[in-house]
Amino acid sequence: MFLLSCYLNNAATTWPKPEGVARAMADFLLRGGANLARGAAARRDLETMGLVGDVRERLALFFGGHAKADPRYVTFTSNVTEALNVVLKGFLKPTMKVVTTSMEHNAVIRPLRSLEEEGLFVAVLPCDGTGRLDPALLEEELGKGGDLVVFSHASNLCGTVQDLEALAGICRRHAVPLVVDAAQTAGLLPLDVSSLGLAALCFTGHKGLLGPQGTGGIVWRPDFAEACRPLIEGGTGSRSHEERQPAMLPDKFESGTPNLPGLAGLAAALTWLEEQGIDRIREKEEALGERLLEGLRRLPGVTLYGPSGMEGRLPVFALNLEKIDNGTLAAELADRWGIETRPGLHCAPLAHRTVGSFPQGALRLSPGYFNSDEDIDSCLEALSELAR
Ligand code: ALA
Repeated sequence: MFLLSCYLNNAATTWPKPEGVARAMADFLLRGGANLARGAAARRDLETMGLVGDVRERLALFFGGHAKADPRYVTFTSNVTEALNVVLKGFLKPTMKVVTTSMEHNAVIRPLRSLEEEGLFVAVLPCDGTGRLDPALLEEELGKGGDLVVFSHASNLCGTVQDLEALAGICRRHAVPLVVDAAQTAGLLPLDVSSLGLAALCFTGHKGLLGPQGTGGIVWRPDFAEACRPLIEGGTGSRSHEERQPAMLPDKFESGTPNLPGLAGLAAALTWLEEQGIDRIREKEEALGERLLEGLRRLPGVTLYGPSGMEGRLPVFALNLEKIDNGTLAAELADRWGIETRPGLHCAPLAHRTVGSFPQGALRLSPGYFNSDEDIDSCLEALSELAR
């Protein structure tokens, strides 16, 4: 096995995964492996059905909302980008107005820019230099009208967490549906779709939920799911006599064979998360973040982007050093010390413009639960050497 000495790129995908994840995926392929609702109700078919139902129920419990009582309102997708596309392209029509922020990942802004070409009106609210949106700006914008609000709960670039409670409250008061991109926060910060009154929460399975790549989904509010057209239509294993896509969930938004080994892995990841508790995971990650941030501040010639402290942020840090560009910096860290990071623009050019690191990009460091204090210290030592 290829072992990295220090993985600090958890914002791209968490690694390693809890031990049971790979085993559950292999077990599914070795011992189960039947397709979903496309068999003869043999033992293997029922096992697959049980597995998918179980992950759906557990995600519904995890994220709350109407889906808690009716897990059909959890839709599986292959990642959060697909989830966002399903929601945005399923709901938005030309002449509607969508409100978003200047900290969005391309997963949000690209579908919106493409819909804009068809006549959608896109209002991009400016966040401050730390990446935070002032709720007063949303209040003011929705005062002028709006059909949908969509934004990322936390920045993949510098970890800034938006004040979701305040922003969701404003959307509720204006009766405008709110879609949240929880790519960076699902599994790390508590999210209750119900109390926030979200129209849809889009999540990925391979980051904070610690599952495999190729998993993700949507937690819907029923009226909003009803209002959305399905983006992908096809075989559902149900109502096969009908040529039209079934209107019932989850079938409406789930055509084609799902990523079943991925869901088996996600189920194992959820078991691990339930055993550990997300508060404990977050506490450890925050402590690693504090340690890293304190050391980063002392580096000569460093520019740090995003919030100045640990409050209101995830342990995701973006920086540049004066004398060395971030691409070279990342390559040096990997080649000489085995430290894995992500340089460049992180699929979030708009966010880089907002915090002041466009066009050169930044080096991103994102520790995760499985890092140790020693990992942080090695990275800081390597960076000090490079900064000199
Ligand atoms: N969006 C992911 C990242 O920030 C993949 O690296």
